[in-house]
Amino acid sequence: MSDPQTTGDKAFYVTTPIYYVNDAPHIGHAYTTVAGDVLTRWHRQRSERVWFLTGTDEHGQKVLRSAEANGAEPQQWVDRLVSEAWLPVLDLLEVANDDFIRTTEERHARRVQSFLQHLYDKGEIYKGSYTGPYCVGCEEFKLPGDLVAGEDGQQLCPIHSRPVESVSETNWFFRLSAYTQPLLDHYREHPEGVEPASARNEVLSFIESGLTDLSISRSSFTWGIPIPWDTSQVTYVWFDALLNYATAVGYGEDDPALTQQFDSTWPADVHLVGKDILRFHAVIWPAMLMAAGLPLPGKVFAHGWLLVGGEKMSKSKLTGIAPSQITDHFGADAFRYYFLSAIPFGHDGSFSWEHMSAVYTSELANGLGNLASRVAAMVGKYFDATLPSASAAGDAEAALASTLATAVAQADEAIVDLRFHDGLAQVRAFVEAVNRYVTEQEPWKVAKDESQRDRLATILYAAADSLRALAVLYAPVMPTTAQRIWELLGAEPALGPLTDQRVQDAGRWGVLPPGCTVTKGDALFPRLEDADGAAAKA
Ligand code: ME8
Ligand code: MG
Repeated sequence: MSDPQTTGDKAFYVTTPIYYVNDAPHIGHAYTTVAGDVLTRWHRQRSERVWFLTGTDEHGQKVLRSAEANGAEPQQWVDRLVSEAWLPVLDLLEVANDDFIRTTEERHARRVQSFLQHLYDKGEIYKGSYTGPYCVGCEEFKLPGDLVAGEDGQQLCPIHSRPVESVSETNWFFRLSAYTQPLLDHYREHPEGVEPASARNEVLSFIESGLTDLSISRSSFTWGIPIPWDTSQVTYVWFDALLNYATAVGYGEDDPALTQQFDSTWPADVHLVGKDILRFHAVIWPAMLMAAGLPLPGKVFAHGWLLVGGEKMSKSKLTGIAPSQITDHFGADAFRYYFLSAIPFGHDGSFSWEHMSAVYTSELANGLGNLASRVAAMVGKYFDATLPSASAAGDAEAALASTLATAVAQADEAIVDLRFHDGLAQVRAFVEAVNRYVTEQEPWKVAKDESQRDRLATILYAAADSLRALAVLYAPVMPTTAQRIWELLGAEPALGPLTDQRVQDAGRWGVLPPGCTVTKGDALFPRLEDADGAAAKA
């Protein structure tokens, strides 16, 4: 676990892939972006300085052809999709990114050219010719061994199940093969550089089989960043795209403010990617950085796929579910909670409407939502909505306090380690412990005995202070719900804004000051309407 005191000036820097704008986003893209958002909100809540980058990958044949198929100029096509589909989904899902990079931006193109020129001047790039199969869906030069045979003997890309095309061009090549041994040495020293372990093994065996030089330019179309010393060629879309992680934080500029930004942000601490694009990030990207003499990222984490009918949900195959289909029914917070708590990060997962409804009802509506509403209602009813103090605490409260301290420590360790599913299980176990505590202490019975006022006060205080801790722990995951809990507790006047509460302090007991005004608002998680799919959001 990183300690904010020792991270110095450098920001904790997290990225998502930059997504192709060949179509609108589906829940697979939203999944990676939400994971990055939860991770960075968690680190911010630990009072670390954070930088969270996402964006769009707009050059290359895949995007060009989708524009053509829709009768649009590529720039017009990407502008429209970014503003009408990709940016709105960030708002929809409450994503708090610090920057959004588009590869068609001038700042990016200029800095990519500066990187290319630097490598060219160092002798890392040479002219050669390429003949071989290419998958436009992957935007990748394939090796014959990568392909599968289709029904009529055609060679298919195993990911897109579509025929590959054959490319024969004179191009510029990057000396990737020279980095075979340096990459192996790097990962031997830094096994945490690729996770999970299954991804690391895949990368190592790929590198061990020997790397070949990479064509980094194309001459048969013009939708891309021109090669600075040979403008008859445009930069290979992956070479252009990977550089976004450096260009977005100021790489390649002399301006002191940008140099300072780059030095205080680079290298990335975590590149979040789906396992489909692991090799680009764990092989080509670090080799590019080595060639340029730049520090390597701390970690590439390859998460699993959301599956539809056992296959990767995909734009190309038109199997995507739009994020709004889910948020319209369950809300954005439930979306964020569900995908990170139900699928162990690094594993594939299948989305099912039934499973999500079951989790929503049991963990959110009946679990957290019911706890908040019954505690608020009882403080209202028995103490005129003013939080009483806990003067008669005993073993049950001590046990709850110790359960909380353990849950916070374990959740923090898990989430910093990208085990969202384990971290959220810890928090959920605490919700269950508090609900059990309230059920066992039976405050509604204690309330009938006027001589037990202190005991009643103690029970409701313990439950309210537990909700205070839950608001902090859930703030990175369910920001709107957590803020509503904060307001329901009347915590802000005494404790300040929710986002200022440190995760490290959430496990302390007795933080919420007596005297807060507690109000029972609308249900945090309204009941879902029956399976007819009618929207149930309040
Ligand atoms: O590959 N399940 O863009 P892309 C989980 N532009 N995650 C999924 C998913 C699924 N079914 N489908 C997509 C590209 N994703 C390049 C990246 S980065 C320098 C350039 C997520 O639009 C996941 O993060 O094909 C995956 O890696 C990414 O979207 C691919 O998005
Ligand atoms: Mg893809």
